[in-house]
Amino acid sequence: MKRVYLDNAATTLCDKRVVDAMIPFYTDKYAVASSQFSHSPGIESKEALDKARETIANKIGAKLEEVIFTSGATESNNMAIKGVAQANRTKGNHIITSSVEHRSVREAIESLEKEGFRVTKLPVSNEGFISVDDLKESIRKETILVSIQYANQETGTIQDIASIGSVCNEKSVIFHTDAALSFGRLPIDVKKEHIDLLSITAHLIHGPKGVGVLYIRDGIEIVKCMYGGFNEFNKRAGTENIPGIVGFAKAVELIGPEEIKYIKKLKKRLYDGITKRLDAVQLNGTQKESLPTILNLTFRFVEGESVILHLDMKGIAVITGSACFSRSLEPSYVLKAMGLSHEEAHGSIRFSFSRFNTEEEIDYTIDAVYDVVKKLREISPITPNK
Ligand SMILES: Cc1ncc(COP(=O)(O)O)c(C=O)c1O
Repeated sequence: MKRVYLDNAATTLCDKRVVDAMIPFYTDKYAVASSQFSHSPGIESKEALDKARETIANKIGAKLEEVIFTSGATESNNMAIKGVAQANRTKGNHIITSSVEHRSVREAIESLEKEGFRVTKLPVSNEGFISVDDLKESIRKETILVSIQYANQETGTIQDIASIGSVCNEKSVIFHTDAALSFGRLPIDVKKEHIDLLSITAHLIHGPKGVGVLYIRDGIEIVKCMYGGFNEFNKRAGTENIPGIVGFAKAVELIGPEEIKYIKKLKKRLYDGITKRLDAVQLNGTQKESLPTILNLTFRFVEGESVILHLDMKGIAVITGSACFSRSLEPSYVLKAMGLSHEEAHGSIRFSFSRFNTEEEIDYTIDAVYDVVKKLREISPITPNK
């Protein structure tokens, strides 16, 4: 059966060139970087670690010592949020976030709420944007941290990070952003955008799973989450995952200038193809520029679960805004926060793209979506004028 993977916002194929770059660090060059003071293999590993750090630092406009390797964006988000909260407990107990964050931010903040921190969750517009004025008004003297995502995992809506960063900078509040899906897809400059902490991960840009970075601006204090060594400038203990880190840097090097243009073309092709052939299809997100990798559509009068099961039978991997995000039939909190009704959220499908998708796959998907939605609408009791 033909296979079309359109779930690239969940994870991406690890590029073969990334795997090739990693293999020697399992088979030959396997010393730990902290052995650099004892032997040559240790020096070699340390050099590989430094080189990878430089590649990632350059990509976001950071200094080397501001780039801390972690096990992925979940860890980076937890480390940033809990680390800043613990380090600033005596200064204040108020945290501001949005209502559409990834679970790793949402639940890290909820855990702090249970410890007594006060939390303001900013609402979003029906396109998924927070209001920068709301943010300004919500900052009070006890506010120690603002955590707002760069772009959304379900709809691809991109927040005005530079303005959010400026507000936080003016008010001297620490600003963290989860850029797991934006890194490598949008230009990021941590200094220009006044970002104090930034979370990224390798597996969403064709790198390996289990490796990420937390950028921590020089001067930002955090309490360590992991104890047991001086690794990563004494900010994150534990043996560095050198093969993964080398793979992460290779994945960054492989992002070419044409890639985004190509992915944007695929997204437009799918959107145009589907909306030309089917009525009652609604874009979830914004008509303004959004992440090129994500397209979220609601197909009225059908259930997302039925659509994804039928598409899976045709070899197409996509997810819906209910079961896949929540493991229950509860509609996604992101779509609900954007004002979608229960039914609209249930009928939503997220398509997400990568450089490994082809135009032919997109055309196959358009045909498949048309067939599946048309058939399901024919048998749906709520379809009007059948
Ligand atoms: C926006 C966002 N944040 C955080 C994460 C978690 O990243 P990781 O899988 O590296 O822990 C993801 C994963 O897809 C994500 O999409």
